[in-house]
Amino acid sequence: MVFYFTATGNSLYVAKEVDAQPVSIAQAIHDPNKIYQADSIGIVCPVFGHEMPELVKEFLKISRFETNYFYILLTYGNRHGGAAELAKAYVEGLGIHPDYINVILMADNFLPGFDMEEQRRLDKKVDEQIVHIKSDLAERKHFIAPVTEQDRAAHQEFLDRLKPAPGMFHDLYEITDDCIGCGICTKVCPKKCFHMEGQKSVWNPAGCISCMACIHACPMLAIKLKMPEKNPQARYRNENISLCEIVDANNQWAEPQE
Ligand SMILES: Cc1cc2nc3c(=O)[nH]c(=O)nc-3n(C[C@H](O)[C@H](O)[C@H](O)COP(=O)(O)O)c2cc1C
Repeated sequence: MVFYFTATGNSLYVAKEVDAQPVSIAQAIHDPNKIYQADSIGIVCPVFGHEMPELVKEFLKISRFETNYFYILLTYGNRHGGAAELAKAYVEGLGIHPDYINVILMADNFLPGFDMEEQRRLDKKVDEQIVHIKSDLAERKHFIAPVTEQDRAAHQEFLDRLKPAPGMFHDLYEITDDCIGCGICTKVCPKKCFHMEGQKSVWNPAGCISCMACIHACPMLAIKLKMPEKNPQARYRNENISLCEIVDANNQWAEPQE
């Protein structure tokens, strides 16, 4: 059994490689009875600020996992900042003892820091990393990805930088007049932060986990970051994952919108 969260498909790609039918956390979080039993249970998600996304943390907090082998795979784009150690500490605080945590370097979808055209061109040897991890999992290996003092310092530096502006990642987007009202943003948002007013999309920052699924999926480039972007013309979705799969993963509207 594998649970995943994804904004732009990297983590879904990994989840599909390790399990034929991975379960979306954005959907499972609404399960009335969150007690999961399986011989092996995995979590696959991106790293946000070196940590698991809030949605994933919330899901882990309110669920119970009964398994012989619990693992976490963290996709990241540039600097994991000790993500394995941070994830281990988080789940241990919930009484979960992880057998295996590993990190996977993939395209970095963080628009303020990276040009998506360039990220698409870089060969980060993703499939080789996945082959290695699949073999570890098949052997039920016990392993937590090593963390250096440099990683810990990078995380501390990130926290210090965030301190003077704690809300900087919570008032992220503006929607321009290029919006044609297609509604894709409403369907890829895992937190239901978008709704339609007439032919225009409206963003409500409450609950936003800044995953950037919306901005990457907008076909009109009508969602902009309020902070500078490396390349405002370039957006990203993992080449092996379709827009429909991101919608199926994250859509929070049970009924079609008006
Ligand atoms: C808000 C945000 C924060 C991020 N923080 C980090 C980070 O601290 N370190 C890193 O290497 N990548 C970071 N990334 C990049 C993603 O972790 C990476 O691209 C991931 O594979 C995306 O997975 P997904 O396609 O499944 O959403 C961040 C991305 C976003 C949107």
